[in-house]
Amino acid sequence: MEQVTRRRVICGNWKMYKTIDQALHFIDELSPIVANANCNVYLAVPFTAIKLMADKAKELHISIGAQNMNDATEGAFTGEVAALMVKDAGASFVLLGHSERRRVFKEDNAFINRKVKRALQSDLEPILCIGETFEEREEGRTQEVLKEQLTACLNGVDRELAKKLIVAYEPVWAIGSGKAATSEIAEEIQSFCRETLASLFDAEVADRTPLLYGGSVTSENSKDFLNQPNIDGLLIGSASLHPESFAKIIQLCQNSASSNDSLAKGE
Ligand code: PGA
Repeated sequence: MEQVTRRRVICGNWKMYKTIDQALHFIDELSPIVANANCNVYLAVPFTAIKLMADKAKELHISIGAQNMNDATEGAFTGEVAALMVKDAGASFVLLGHSERRRVFKEDNAFINRKVKRALQSDLEPILCIGETFEEREEGRTQEVLKEQLTACLNGVDRELAKKLIVAYEPVWAIGSGKAATSEIAEEIQSFCRETLASLFDAEVADRTPLLYGGSVTSENSKDFLNQPNIDGLLIGSASLHPESFAKIIQLCQNSASSNDSLAKGE
């Protein structure tokens, strides 16, 4: 079978942590380490830090993104931020459908679907997060739930625009719990997600979409995930808050089996 070239992506998700000063300081510490990174380094930062971080990260080839956005172009939505606004601030990607957004802020698949489409129309790369709860896994419904999330969240997405998509599998029970999925579970799921993407779009879209694993990723367990054929990168919460642990994961990604695939960087 023909070798597929896929981007490798290491994405930090800072959640509601870091002031602007702290964020800029982090970049200063990280920059010597990522100077020659041959994988794509992404950081999803608080809205308030996007502009200055994006300005600073440009020469370092670090992509700065938002952790959320609204689906409307503009309007009377107090407290919300539009796709064009995060783009204007310098974001190149946006996390959508994170389980904390689904659970705490009651976002459903239909809303996430509208956001995915809006992000793509606004030239923002969506990182669509999907994942099952502990109960859904116990009930043997994992694949059903993930297929439903993918199908509903990607409903009506244009095939050409879908080539900009990244999908992160983050089991809800693994996020912030210190109990990561095994790399075998993550590989099995990402292989299933790739098949699902092929059925929703086609084999080309499925083959080129970077699929990430997230949920209690550390510098100790990241190598196992990165060595799996269908795992093209990681979405990292708490271990991305410290430059040392984040840098270590980036270095592991560079050294991992298929890091040559990252020649597609910037595509
Ligand atoms: P964690 O968070 O790495 O702290 O588990 C991952 C995430 O929420 O994206």
